[in-house]
Amino acid sequence: MSKFTIERESDPAGEATVRAELAFDDEGSGPAILLLHGYPFNRTMWREQVDALKRLHRVVAVDLRGHGESEVTDGVVTMEDMARDIKALLDRLGINRVAIAGLSMGGYVALEFCHIFPTSVRAVILADTRAQADTEEAKANRAVRIEKALHEGMAAIADAMLPKLLTPETMSHRPELVERIRKMMTTTSPRGAAAALRGMARRQDFRSFVSRILAPTLLLVGRLDQITPVEDSEFMHREIGGSRLEIIQGAGHVSNLERPQQFNKALLSFLSEIEV
Ligand code: MLT
Repeated sequence: MSKFTIERESDPAGEATVRAELAFDDEGSGPAILLLHGYPFNRTMWREQVDALKRLHRVVAVDLRGHGESEVTDGVVTMEDMARDIKALLDRLGINRVAIAGLSMGGYVALEFCHIFPTSVRAVILADTRAQADTEEAKANRAVRIEKALHEGMAAIADAMLPKLLTPETMSHRPELVERIRKMMTTTSPRGAAAALRGMARRQDFRSFVSRILAPTLLLVGRLDQITPVEDSEFMHREIGGSRLEIIQGAGHVSNLERPQQFNKALLSFLSEIEV
């Protein structure tokens, strides 16, 4: 694990400076791929993907601000903040163009990155995510979850979320995986989670933007995803010219963890085709 302190102006007028320490792993060599985790997880959710990718790729897995071993900053951390954080990290690592892969919240950040830095993107992988912004109801639900995280702690968040994240089969028959995911959630800082929830509630609607993505794009989604259902990925597939859609059978919202072999197969096959 390495750490890097980003320091940059938070707005074009240079009125405020952002400083935050980001934790990341940087393994392997070859064309670079950046892995962005979902909420409220951390970079360790990509362990199986890092192992599969690092023989042929330089794989950077980062803890987004407020998560894992990265610094927590209070208030709101927007998807744009996170996208700018990772651009600063990539600049520091000397990576000019990257395949950007994000799951769920990581996908929101990946879309924001494509929007702000299109020339830095060589490919896009969007897993269990969506282009649309929050509805008013979703924003209200986030407000409830912010209170829950801050006043009851992340165990209460995990208890409420796990049955929606995972399939009933995983919940009943794979206690080690459930425990691994639960631990990622309960070790997340409630303040970091709250800042990300506020940021997700404010994120842009990218439904009309996605048709302007020109980089090769892979969409992955668990057939049983209850949080960002298959229709959300089908919409992006229709809009993003030449995109590929892989539906992972038997997986819910964290398809990379529930079905790593199918997920990795689709990912490696996509990357091998665009990298010939
Ligand atoms: C995630 O898995 O990153 C979140 O569930 C996404 C969200 O809350 O919209």
